Amino acid sequence: MRRLLVTGGAGFIGSDFVHYVMEHTDDYVTVLDKLTYAGNARSLDGLDPQRFRLVIGDICDAPLVDRLFAEHDAVVHYAAESHNDNSLTGPEPFVATNVVGTFTLLEAARRSGIRYHHISTDEVYGDLELDDPERFTEQTPYNPSSPYSSTKAGSDLLVRAWVRSFGVAATISNCSNNYGPRQHVEKFIPRQITNVIDGIRPRLYGDGRNVRDWIHADDHSSAVLAILDRGVIGETYLIGADGEKSNREVVEIILRAMDQPTDAYDLVTDRPGHDKRYAIDWTKIRDELGWEPRYRHFESGIADTIAWYRANEEWWRPQKASTEAKYELTGQ
Ligand code: NAD
Ligand code: TYD
Repeated sequence: MRRLLVTGGAGFIGSDFVHYVMEHTDDYVTVLDKLTYAGNARSLDGLDPQRFRLVIGDICDAPLVDRLFAEHDAVVHYAAESHNDNSLTGPEPFVATNVVGTFTLLEAARRSGIRYHHISTDEVYGDLELDDPERFTEQTPYNPSSPYSSTKAGSDLLVRAWVRSFGVAATISNCSNNYGPRQHVEKFIPRQITNVIDGIRPRLYGDGRNVRDWIHADDHSSAVLAILDRGVIGETYLIGADGEKSNREVVEIILRAMDQPTDAYDLVTDRPGHDKRYAIDWTKIRDELGWEPRYRHFESGIADTIAWYRANEEWWRPQKASTEAKYELTGQ
């Protein structure tokens, strides 16, 4: 039984991890979340109040973070500004939360000696050519493209320095693109699913040939738990599930599953600096920690995700119109 602090636990992947931990362990969980536009307390509905609590607050609030660290055995740090498109129109909160927020947590970890796990993304490595046979490994040099990925890269480098210089007991994981329930409708897959529900055609940036390496959020959560249980301090682990698909392929799968013609989408203005392709080599976490993904069939994972959005309209509906209004400003 551990006392776990989960930052950003009201967001998409953080809430998945909280549900996963509550179901698969006896741990006590506290979520620290600012409830920005991306956080939703309803994503934590139904959890046992004897083992779970939500603290609404900012990871940049050092006295609050110190108090919470003193009461916990480990922290898993998910909180971030997470959307590339937002980082292109307004990068400031990305620096504040992703860089300064991580710095605040690391300084508190240094004072308290708490076990620290840092959640990051494969986007810190930049992108690959569409025909490159290589995938990202733990040795790939950092080469981020966007304000989002550069602030995540900066936060990873802070963690490495705090391990080496101050002996903070940290691990890092860099995961590929996640899908599943409770993802904000600004992101690619939920945006297209909820567009189709609303009778709007899905919108692909550029020529739609960019490739992402998809993993179900539950597989990400099981990998993070494996690192927390068995990971080696100071190490980085890449998390993926061999899920490479072009954006066109993903939209066609969604359209087919929702009984629409597979060409019923539009090509729109491309994202500036749009990364071409991400792909993860997850050999290290498989060989060293014995972890493997469970969701190997993307089409059925997408069908379940569509069913969740159909059944939980009251969860996403309040964000839909304002999200689409933002996209309208960039022609996307
Ligand atoms: P999200 O945007 O859905 O959730 C982020 C959460 O952090 C929200 O609940 C928000 O309220 C909270 N938050 C933001 N700023 C905060 C602050 N200053 N203090 C406290 N809480 C704050 O994001 P997500 O998609 O769940 O991503 C979570 C983490 O996983 C991020 O670190 C992201 O970089 C990483 N990641 C995401 C993906 C992906 O596909 N979504 C892939 C790999 C890694
Ligand atoms: P996104 O979910 O924003 O994740 P990331 O930028 O972290 O990969 O986008 C996934 C891919 O889908 C990316 O190549 C951009 C593209 N995309 C679209 O084609 N249309 C859209 O409406 C959105 C939101 C994204």
